[in-house]
Amino acid sequence: MTETLWPDSVSVDDAAAITVRLTDAVLDRLLAVPPGLESRVYEAMRYSALSPGKRLRPLLVLASARLFGVARRSALQVAAAIEMVHAYSLIHDDLPAMDDSDLRRGRPTSHKQFDEATAVLAGDGLLTTAFEVLADPDTHGDPAVRAELVAALAAAAGAAGMVGGQMIDLIAEKQPLDIGAITRLQRMKTGALIAFSCEAGAILAKAAAELRLALRGYAHDLGLAFQIADDLLDIEGSSAETGKPVGADAAAGKATFVSILGVERARAQAELLIKQAVAHLDLYEERAELLRQVARFVVNRRS
Ligand code: IPE
Ligand code: IPE
Ligand code: MG
Ligand code: MG
Ligand code: MG
Repeated sequence: MTETLWPDSVSVDDAAAITVRLTDAVLDRLLAVPPGLESRVYEAMRYSALSPGKRLRPLLVLASARLFGVARRSALQVAAAIEMVHAYSLIHDDLPAMDDSDLRRGRPTSHKQFDEATAVLAGDGLLTTAFEVLADPDTHGDPAVRAELVAALAAAAGAAGMVGGQMIDLIAEKQPLDIGAITRLQRMKTGALIAFSCEAGAILAKAAAELRLALRGYAHDLGLAFQIADDLLDIEGSSAETGKPVGADAAAGKATFVSILGVERARAQAELLIKQAVAHLDLYEERAELLRQVARFVVNRRS
C-alpha cells in the first residue's frame, strides 16, 4: 500500500480526498446491484453508503494501516466495511423511532427517499455485508487476522459499543445524566467505531501490543472529542454545512456535553482531549503526522 496510496508528507485534506475516492470505488464494487426484485434493498444500501460523507473512519483505517505498511487492498476492504457499519448506524439513527430526521448528508434520509421498512432492511444489509467483507480471504490471507477483525468490529458495533451507546442516548432524552454517564454514552455510541478504525491497521499488521495500545489511547480521546464537536455543531453549525438538521439535540431535550458544560467549556474539553490524543502518538514519531492532523481536523471541522 505504501507504494501508491499517498506520500509520507501528505496533508490531511489530500489524504481525505484520496480516501473518499478509493473507499467509494471499493464500496461501489462490493455493493453491486443484482438483477432480482431484491435490487431495491441494494439501491437503498448504495444510496446511503455512497452519499457524500467525510469518510473519517476509512481515513483512520488507511492512516493506521499506512503506519505499518499494510497491503493497500486489505486496508481498503476494512475501510469499506467500517463505512458500511457507520452508514447503517446513520440510517437507523435517523428513523422516526429514533432521531426522526429528514436530512442526512444534504439529502433526504433513507426512510424519506425509500420507506421505513426499506430503510430498516438497508441498514441490516449494510451491517451484515460489512462482516462478510471482513471474513473474505480478499481482506487478509491469515484467517486468524480475519477472525480478529470480525470480533473487534462486532464488539465495537454491538450492545457493549455503538448499539448500547444509542440505547443510553435515547434514555438521555428522558432522564438527566451526569457528565460521567454522558462520557460513557459517547465513548460507546461514537468512540467504539472510531477506536476500531484506529486499531484496524495494527490488527492487519499483527503489530506489537505497545504500538496497538498507543493507537487505542489516541482513539479513546479522539472519539470523545469528535462527538463533542458533533454536539457543538448541532448548536453552532448550519444545516447547509453539516447536511443534517441543526438544533435537534436541544429540541429533543437530550443531555449532551454541551447541554451540561455549555459551549465554551465543551469546546475547551474537546481541545484538551485532542492534545491528549496526540500525546499518545509520540512513540510513532513523525510517521504519525497524518493522525495528528486528523485529530486537529476533528475539532476544527464545520461539517
Ligand atoms: C455523524 O458522523 C454521526 C456521529 C457519530 C456523530 P460523521 O460526522 O462522521 O458523519 P458523516 O459520515 O461525515 O456523514
Ligand atoms: C449518532 O449520534 C451516532 C450514531 C451511532 C449513528 P447523533 O444522533 O448525534 O448523530 P447525528 O448528529 O444525527 O449525525
Ligand atoms: Mg442520535
Ligand atoms: Mg441523530
Ligand atoms: Mg449529533
